[in-house]
Amino acid sequence: MTPGSGRHVVLVGMMGSGKTTVGRRVAKVLGRPFVDADEAFIARFGRTVAAAFADDGEDGFRALEAELLAELIDVPDPLVIATGGGVVVREENRKRLADPDVFVVLLHAEPAFLASRTTEAAHRPLLADGDLAAVLQRLHDERIGWYQEVADEVLEVASFHEWGSSPKRAMAARIAARVGEPT
Ligand code: S3P
Repeated sequence: MTPGSGRHVVLVGMMGSGKTTVGRRVAKVLGRPFVDADEAFIARFGRTVAAAFADDGEDGFRALEAELLAELIDVPDPLVIATGGGVVVREENRKRLADPDVFVVLLHAEPAFLASRTTEAAHRPLLADGDLAAVLQRLHDERIGWYQEVADEVLEVASFHEWGSSPKRAMAARIAARVGEPT
């Protein structure tokens, strides 16, 4: 899409890439509501991400995640949405993200960079088993093509960390500027 058309800004990327923090700042700069999909999941389904994985497995969680994404994209007011890292796994979600009304930004980072910053957390059951770096490497390799397929814009997270003292603020400013709305 053309980023300035006033529709949703959707952040995609691996766990630990900074989607939530950056998304919250983008929303603040643009004066839009911010939605973190993992938080919205709890409000929408009355269960945590971890509970959905435990009760219904990853497939069960992915079905609900897809339902939620569809609902969020249907919201008429322009939102800033931070998705869960695995949202690109389902083809139906990739199709929704290809909607010309949605400006998709990939926060990309190499697995080694992510491993140095990503923490296991209750809402990240995929990180609970096995070596963190190995899991992130596998997920990154599986998903990178899908992330690139849906992205209208790609920010290299490590470059922002290398060059500035407030990398997340700088990423948010870059995205907000691309959207081209009054700040
Ligand atoms: C997931 C990422 C998580 C959460 C769930 C699955 C993934 O979100 O949706 O644990 O498959 O990468 P964050 O990317 O916000 O941590």
